[in-house]
Formats: sequence, structure tokens, C-alpha cells
Amino acid sequence: MKAAILGATRGMGRALARAMAERGDLLFLLGRDAADLEKSARDAEARGGRKPGSIGVAVCDLERPETFAPALGAAEQALGGLDTVIVTAGLFATQDQLEADPDFARRLLVVNFAHTVAFCEEARKRLLARGGGTLCVFSSVAGERGRKPVAIYGASKAGLSRYLEALDHKYRAAGLRTVCVKPGFVKTGMTEGLKPPPFAGEPDAVARTVLAGIDAGKPVVYAPPIWALVMLVIRNLPRFVMRKINF
Ligand SMILES: NC(=O)c1ccc[n+]([C@@H]2O[C@H](COP(=O)([O-])OP(=O)(O)OC[C@H]3O[C@@H](n4cnc5c(N)ncnc54)[C@H](OP(=O)(O)O)[C@@H]3O)[C@@H](O)[C@H]2O)c1
Repeated sequence: MKAAILGATRGMGRALARAMAERGDLLFLLGRDAADLEKSARDAEARGGRKPGSIGVAVCDLERPETFAPALGAAEQALGGLDTVIVTAGLFATQDQLEADPDFARRLLVVNFAHTVAFCEEARKRLLARGGGTLCVFSSVAGERGRKPVAIYGASKAGLSRYLEALDHKYRAAGLRTVCVKPGFVKTGMTEGLKPPPFAGEPDAVARTVLAGIDAGKPVVYAPPIWALVMLVIRNLPRFVMRKINF
């Protein structure tokens, strides 16, 4: 694959970059901090036994849409074309934190939904212009039902999941494979300090699951996979039960 990854500086994005470098995929990393990006690129090169400097980087900030086109353009140029774009970048805060800080809540909604969709639109056009490819984006199980502990974060991911589902319906026949990743709880910086529930996942295992899903062209990937079953139950719970429980 010739892949650009937005979000490879931490967590599941970093694990994915390492796993892809190890199996020989060609990578270009996008993110908001140039120094962090360089560090992550050198790390992925070392994992993949690549020459230092062989993985390029460009600044791309989900709060600054004007960075999207130049960053994707730089990736296309460095890799001699792109066939895969992966987005793991996103913001999180607990429902209590978001209710107490409306400015951050607004930022989160813009980053996780509006600007991620705008970035995907830029990536989609470029992939379709070359005959297709894979657009893999991290949403969340938090977007599957309206849930008390993730009302705002979950809403941002619900919107994103719906957009990705529609993109898959609209463009798969034209060669665009849209992969919507729905992680359950995964132990990364994002969830530091939160009590891990049963079935909490590790970033490296999630990366392997996601890569298998990308290779198979699955439209939806739950990671860890057990969350597919958990969410099947949650999706079918009656509303009065959802109102009672604290899940
Ligand atoms: N961890 C979980 O339990 C869990 C569960 C469900 C869904 N998810 C979703 O899975 C994805 C990855 O989560 P994670 O746990 O790996 O998160 P993480 O470790 O916190 O990493 C988040 C990444 O997003 C980047 N980012 C944040 N704001 C950005 C911006 N404005 N522009 C560009 N990049 C930005 C960060 O870059 P910096 O290095 O610059 O901060 C970092 O690389 C997220 O979309 C998250 O919502 C996570």
C-alpha cells in the first residue's frame, strides 16, 4: 500500500504505522506537530528496517482545513500516488468535562465530525481521481446508540459513521473502499485515567485487526472484534432500558 496516515503520532495510529512499516507498506505521516511527526516517522522507519528519512511527513491539523489539500498533495508527491488514506486522529473528553467546557465541546464536535468529513472529502476526490483506493477512518462504538456517558463525543462519532456508511454506498462501485473502524475501549493516551471495562483492547492488537479489515475491504471493523457482539446487543436494547442503565 501507498498510505497516508493522519494521527500516527499516538495510540492506535502509531501502532498502525509501526505494523504497516513492518510489513513493507509505503507510508507518509500527517499530523499537527512537525517535531512529533518526525519522531514518529523515525520510529516507524526503525520498526520497518527502512532508511532514515524514507518516511515523509507534512503538517495537517484538523482544526485548520487549509492544511488538508497541501498535506495530501505532499503525500501523493512523495509516494508517487496514494492508494490508501487512514484517519485515526480525533479528540475525546468525558461527558462531565464536555458539559463543563462548552468551548472544548464545540472544538471536539468540529474536529471529530465537520473537519474530519471535510478531510475525507479531499481524500475521496484524490483517490477516485486515480481510479479508487481505500479510505479507512476511525469512528467509535460510542456512535452506535445515544448513551449517557458519551452524549457529545458519541454524537460526533455517530455523524461520522453515517457519513462513512453513505460514502461506501455511493462510491464502492467506482473503486473507493470505505472502512469505518469502530473501536471499543482501547488502552491509549486517550483513555488514560479511565477504568478499563471488560474487553478493553491494546493498540497493537487493534492495528492487526484493522489491517486485516483493510486488506479484506470490510466496510465496518470492530476492534477488538468482541465489540461487534457487544454492540449487537446494545443496538437492540429497548429505549427504556438504555435510559435506565449507565452504559
Ligand atoms: N482509545 C479508545 O478507547 C477509543 C475508542 C473508540 C474510538 N476511538 C477513536 O480512535 C481514534 C484513535 O484513538 P487513540 O486512542 O489512538 O487516540 P490518541 O492516542 O489520543 O491519539 C489521537 C491522535 O489524534 C491526533 N489529533 C488530535 N487532534 C488533532 C488535530 N486537530 N489535528 C490532527 N491530529 C489531531 C493526535 O495528535 P497529537 O499527537 O498532535 O496530539 C493523536 O495522534 C480516535 O478517533 C478516537 O476517537 C478511541
